[in-house]
Amino acid sequence: MAAKIIDGKKIASLTRADIASRVAQLKEESGVAPGLAVIIVGNDPASQVYVRNKKKACEEAGMYSVVIEMPEDTTQEALMEQIETLKENDRIHGILVQLPLPAHLDEEAVIAAIPPEKDVDAFHPINTGKIMIGNYDFLPCTPAGVMKLLEHEGVEISGKECVVVGRSNIVGKPQAMLLLHANGTVTICHSRTKNLAEITRRADILVVAIGKANYITGDMIRPGAVVIDVGMNRPAGGKLCGDVDFASCSTVAGAITPVPGGVGPMTITMLLENTLTAAKKAVEKNCKNP
Ligand code: GUN
Repeated sequence: MAAKIIDGKKIASLTRADIASRVAQLKEESGVAPGLAVIIVGNDPASQVYVRNKKKACEEAGMYSVVIEMPEDTTQEALMEQIETLKENDRIHGILVQLPLPAHLDEEAVIAAIPPEKDVDAFHPINTGKIMIGNYDFLPCTPAGVMKLLEHEGVEISGKECVVVGRSNIVGKPQAMLLLHANGTVTICHSRTKNLAEITRRADILVVAIGKANYITGDMIRPGAVVIDVGMNRPAGGKLCGDVDFASCSTVAGAITPVPGGVGPMTITMLLENTLTAAKKAVEKNCKNP
């Protein structure tokens, strides 16, 4: 039987409408519009598209947004100075530095320079630590978007076999943690995992973020499984595809996300949610310390 297609575009649109109404309410109550600053260094075409989409989504939700474009040869000092300026800017509640950065820049130092209360990516060590202990202000956008999709689809996680393929700091590791917080039994697989198919076939919920086009095929999944594809691959000359081979998996899975139109729209949606949270916290703080 064909799997149910999880419509990320529709779920993102519903969630964004709800965020927009909460933004309007915050503006009315406090006069503050949530503000996001996105820094992009260099000319990576994929990053430029992502950044443009982030700005557009902010504006549609009634938020203030700025994009700061810096050249490929930007120095570490210049980038740190830019972050310092945004740190002091009261109109900016969220700061996001688009990754990956050019190789000469120290990504870890850049992430650590963003104040945790403006870290809407939730990449700062303080925020990743808070996620580990389950007491957090922000969730990283892609894993949070996946959780929202599962919630919207009414997928029960508690007690279920959850398999995450991929162990990146941006997706795999925090995704595993969020599924664990939801009482899933979680296994993390990666490029060195032996007998991958044996493990993925156990999954009631399979989240794939390995960055390899069409890596998971229909024979690797359990009939009826919920399959979430975080991949965004552009094979040379081919069209955008995920890490999951949609053609073979969609006849075996119970539900599956498409690429595009699955997880992608949810990532930006959760960035809007985090920016709103940051703005609300700033308003509360200012109310306490007039
Ligand atoms: N590059 C790809 N995904 C992301 C993301 O979620 N945040 C940032 N800052 N850069 C990215």
